[in-house]
Amino acid sequence: MALYSEKVMDHFRNPRNVGVLDDADGVGEVGNVKCGDIMKIYLKIEDNIVRDVKFETFGCGSAIASSSMATELIKGKPLEEVMKLTNKAVAEALDGLPPIKMHCSVLAEEAIKAALKDYYEKNDIPYDKSQFPATPTCASCEIG
Ligand code: FES
Repeated sequence: MALYSEKVMDHFRNPRNVGVLDDADGVGEVGNVKCGDIMKIYLKIEDNIVRDVKFETFGCGSAIASSSMATELIKGKPLEEVMKLTNKAVAEALDGLPPIKMHCSVLAEEAIKAALKDYYEKNDIPYDKSQFPATPTCASCEIG
């Protein structure tokens, strides 16, 4: 059986929403200390909705596929829904990741949360701090 699903390979080879948003309302960058991979997410937000999203990922294929899928999943969505996006949902949408690569999808969830937090703070919007990791890094990563 192939280690990676067709969807993972597709999003790795043809990643969606790669790039930078110069006028982003929120930017989140997280890194995995063990493997050194870095993910940056840019959000354009209007009327509480993600109007546009771009990413830059310097990392493994699973991290690139996770970033690509995560950006597709949050585009056009209200922020309340974006907050609920989990790394498991990203992995499921990719038809699964090998267990040793699940931590790569955690980066996508954390980068999006970091970008949302940046947006809330820049705009003085009150938010529930308990829903955000204190230090946005790949906390669940045990494997480099
Ligand atoms: Fe570092 Fe995948 S995010 S190995």
